[in-house]
Amino acid sequence: MRVRLESVSHVYDASDESSAVQVLDAVSLTIASGDFAVLMGASGSGKSTLLNLIGAVDRPSRGRIFLDDVETSALDERGLTMLRRHSLGYIFQFFNLVPTLNVFENVAFPLSLAGVPRGELEARAGEVLERVGLTGRAKHFPTSSRAARCNAWPSAVPSFTARGSFSPTSLPAISTRRPASRSSS
Ligand SMILES: Nc1ncnc2c1ncn2[C@@H]1O[C@H](COP(=O)(O)OP(=O)(O)OP(=O)(O)O)[C@@H](O)[C@H]1O
Ligand SMILES: [Mg+2]
Repeated sequence: MRVRLESVSHVYDASDESSAVQVLDAVSLTIASGDFAVLMGASGSGKSTLLNLIGAVDRPSRGRIFLDDVETSALDERGLTMLRRHSLGYIFQFFNLVPTLNVFENVAFPLSLAGVPRGELEARAGEVLERVGLTGRAKHFPTSSRAARCNAWPSAVPSFTARGSFSPTSLPAISTRRPASRSSS
């Protein structure tokens, strides 16, 4: 999937507690399909803001964003929801797993939202857990100490909806141990 930004700016509106914050100022860039891009910058420089805009979580205050030929910055909420459900995969800074669902159910959740039939859903969730070596933990919950030692399985969650464009096996490193401390993204 090709990513293209044209003069994207973003301002967080003022609230009762803070004044307006201009985070991005006329950012233009293109990331070709299949490229591996790394975004670096000081804490607070706007990395998460930019990723949220590229990932169709948020819309820019100004400028245009395209994923392939779709202008995501022009989509309404429903259009953005469909795009996120069917075309994008995310690994969040903090995993955002549903604590009341087990490993298997967390992985299968996006498919159930997309209306995938139960048989296919089970097959695909089972396959992706096997690919990241977590079949044995399918019934563990995110909060269980044994599952918590494992940080590979959240990477399995986004792998379905972005079929063909993302695979957990494409991750550079999948550790089965939680790092001592988390770094910022
Ligand atoms: N929802 C929000 N409302 C108001 N200001 C925000 C909001 N989210 C982020 N900001 C501000 O926007 C700026 C950029 O934040 P952002 O989270 O994009 O930075 P970052 O580069 O991802 O930082 P980090 O490395 O700490 O994750 C910061 O000054 C932050 O305080
Ligand atoms: Mg961040």
